[in-house]
Amino acid sequence: MKKSAFILLLLLSISAFAFAQDVPKAAQDLSKQDTTNPAALKKLESEPQPNADSKPVALTFAPLADSKKFTLIAYGDTRFSDPKETAATNPEVRVALVKQIASEKPSAVLISGDLPWHGGDENDWNQYEVETKPWRDAGIHVYPALGNHELNGGDEKGINFWWAHFPELKGSRWYSVRIGNCLVLSLDSNSKLGDGSPQTDWIKTQLSAAPKDIDFVLFTMHHPAYTDSFPTPAGGHSARKQEQDFAAMLEKIQPTVRARFLVVAGHVNNYERFEHNGVVYLTSGGGGAKPYPIDRSADALYKYEKVNYHYIRLSVDGRTLSAHMFRWEDDGKAGKFVARDSFTLNASSK
Ligand SMILES: [Fe+2]
Repeated sequence: MKKSAFILLLLLSISAFAFAQDVPKAAQDLSKQDTTNPAALKKLESEPQPNADSKPVALTFAPLADSKKFTLIAYGDTRFSDPKETAATNPEVRVALVKQIASEKPSAVLISGDLPWHGGDENDWNQYEVETKPWRDAGIHVYPALGNHELNGGDEKGINFWWAHFPELKGSRWYSVRIGNCLVLSLDSNSKLGDGSPQTDWIKTQLSAAPKDIDFVLFTMHHPAYTDSFPTPAGGHSARKQEQDFAAMLEKIQPTVRARFLVVAGHVNNYERFEHNGVVYLTSGGGGAKPYPIDRSADALYKYEKVNYHYIRLSVDGRTLSAHMFRWEDDGKAGKFVARDSFTLNASSK
């Protein structure tokens, strides 16, 4: 081998090693897999659990001066953890997001899962409490959906910590909450969502029994029904069948009801927007978790291919819901939030 070729090979090996150090363990495990084989990749996605018990809980949250004009924030994949953990999650961005969200003075924050890095580690939950003090100081309510990281470190341990930090949810893995003219259905995509499952039966009942003055139904869940992401050595997740079937069900129901459906998922550490058969689907997994770029398809309504740390502001004003995605941009100082996507949903008057 020529000396120049050897040096090039050496440099490539060093950069590959450095890259591997920067990639979370799950992604490193993935890098050993055949990423060209769809069947192999499918096995890497966690499968939903069939036996999750959940006591139905219907919460009502209405401390609103005007029950038809208020702001909600949606985002997910924060991965609260020791600030020394900088490979799996970005503590600087996490703190900036919490502070910015507090300054929005929303009525509530909807979190689409993966709130802690390791749900079985109480220190991560305590770090969540420490970092979100600005929300408690501002009296902002938090409604979380269960992600897979909540159960990371033991299902029972994780779910018990979740309930300890959100005591009004105790005993429930999925629940509803009415906020003004919005009905929020917070789902557990770790559990079965298919036809005949307790969770899907409950969703159908919630929709058929929804009060007539509900203008928007917001579904928060962790695993997305639509995404352009797929597993790569740098990270990524494909959509699973149960969420695709769930979306097909919503798209059948949407034309038959007056309220508009909006689905906010996470799991994919980026931002995406799609609309299918009148239902809008957002991926909002840019709350701090190690981000990765996405090659956008023709279906994607948001096209920026790089990473997107962000949050989404949902402003409800009667039968109009205006959504704005604010992306964190590093200006070399403290960073700033810039509106990079927006859309409007209108509920029918009939
Ligand atoms: Fe996740």
